[in-house]
Amino acid sequence: MIVKQKIMRSVSLTAHPLGCARDTCDQIDWAEAAKEGRIPGYDKPAAAQFPANVLVIGGSTGYGLATRIVSSFVGGADTINVSFEREPKENKTATPGWYNTMAFERRAVQAGRKAASVFGDAFSHAIKEETLELIRKEFGKIDLVVYSLASPVRVDPDDGTVYRSVIKPVSGTYRAKSIDPFSEKMTYAEVEAATEEQVAETVKVMGGEDWKLWISSLAAHGLLAEHCKTVAFSYIGPEVTFPIYREGSIGRAKEHLERTAAELSVLLQQFDGTAYVSVNKALVTRASSVIPVVPLYITILYRIMKDMDLHEGCIEQMYRMMTQRLYTGDPVPVDAAGRIRLDDWEMREDVQQQVEAAWEEIDQENLLQLADLEGFRKEYAQIHGFGLAGIDYSRDVDPRMID
Ligand SMILES: NC(=O)c1ccc[n+]([C@@H]2O[C@H](COP(=O)([O-])OP(=O)(O)OC[C@H]3O[C@@H](n4cnc5c(N)ncnc54)[C@H](O)[C@@H]3O)[C@@H](O)[C@H]2O)c1
Repeated sequence: MIVKQKIMRSVSLTAHPLGCARDTCDQIDWAEAAKEGRIPGYDKPAAAQFPANVLVIGGSTGYGLATRIVSSFVGGADTINVSFEREPKENKTATPGWYNTMAFERRAVQAGRKAASVFGDAFSHAIKEETLELIRKEFGKIDLVVYSLASPVRVDPDDGTVYRSVIKPVSGTYRAKSIDPFSEKMTYAEVEAATEEQVAETVKVMGGEDWKLWISSLAAHGLLAEHCKTVAFSYIGPEVTFPIYREGSIGRAKEHLERTAAELSVLLQQFDGTAYVSVNKALVTRASSVIPVVPLYITILYRIMKDMDLHEGCIEQMYRMMTQRLYTGDPVPVDAAGRIRLDDWEMREDVQQQVEAAWEEIDQENLLQLADLEGFRKEYAQIHGFGLAGIDYSRDVDPRMID
């Protein structure tokens, strides 16, 4: 079939097999080049001990995939991914994560590293058990657990209750400029406050409960190595998005995740291990594109950070996390609240001052000068395998193959 990009309400319904494979291989090539010191601004890693076995929960796209790539192709790790995928059919494409995973695992195995995946619901007991069994049989103890799930729903593994996360303010209606990056229309978003129950459900889905279940199960089964580390991802962002993000329902979940890191560090003391939360940069991923108002902020931020030569994607961020934060040979640098900060360039005063000025000024007339809409759409297309150089999109492809 000829695979075309189909987007409905900011969600891509298709993914291109060859394009996703290309996008994954491009990230691998970038990581290998950085390791050899061939990327300006990104130093070769210091001679530190990298983790030998890495488990990435949510390792098929976005930040999780980038961490898997850096772990394997910079640190030389054997890796396991757990992610939720739709497999391809003869006339229907798979999720991008499925194609990314196939491409990653092929390259990793070619490079002499072990790589395996468990596809299914990471929140369930069954997938945890299957993963633990795989680790026990094929990998041995885990040195780093990366928790990178972004999900709108969680089924409680004990009683089957379905919890749904919402991205809403918690007090009062939030009104702010917003954008549909695909139609280039500026609008005013009006988002009503979440109910107490919705906030609690969001914390159930995106808070730290499931992360703790993973770490406790691994520990209980003797599958964590001495000095093991675990990291989960958070976001803070600028004041303009506080009502919808950091001080909204999702922010409550992130606060819970951050508190969970402290609890997990206590649990990991028996292995001389530590749990961290890393606050990452705002980026175009499948998860972030559907948040109200955030795409407008991202497009303004992209324009400014690209002009200042400070722009990074997932792979650059995760390279810095692994080589300049988690594995330097020195203590991990953290902020006053104990968090790793990879949003350091995004939150620089000179960057945020320009974002604020552009936010005030932006309207339908000057939208294309002040916001990088094209960059947003290009990245969104690329994470679904479209718009990549060297791919013949008019070619008939089998959705079940990545070449
Ligand atoms: N994108 C950003 O701007 C940004 C910034 C800072 C922090 N973060 C955080 O980073 C983390 C990862 O987000 P992302 O943007 O990389 O998202 P993403 O959508 O690219 O990746 C999410 C991953 O979770 C997996 N997943 C979702 N539900 C699952 C389930 N039930 N079982 C198994 N796997 C499942 C997906 O398959 C995928 O591998 C999230 O915690 C997010 O809040 C994102």
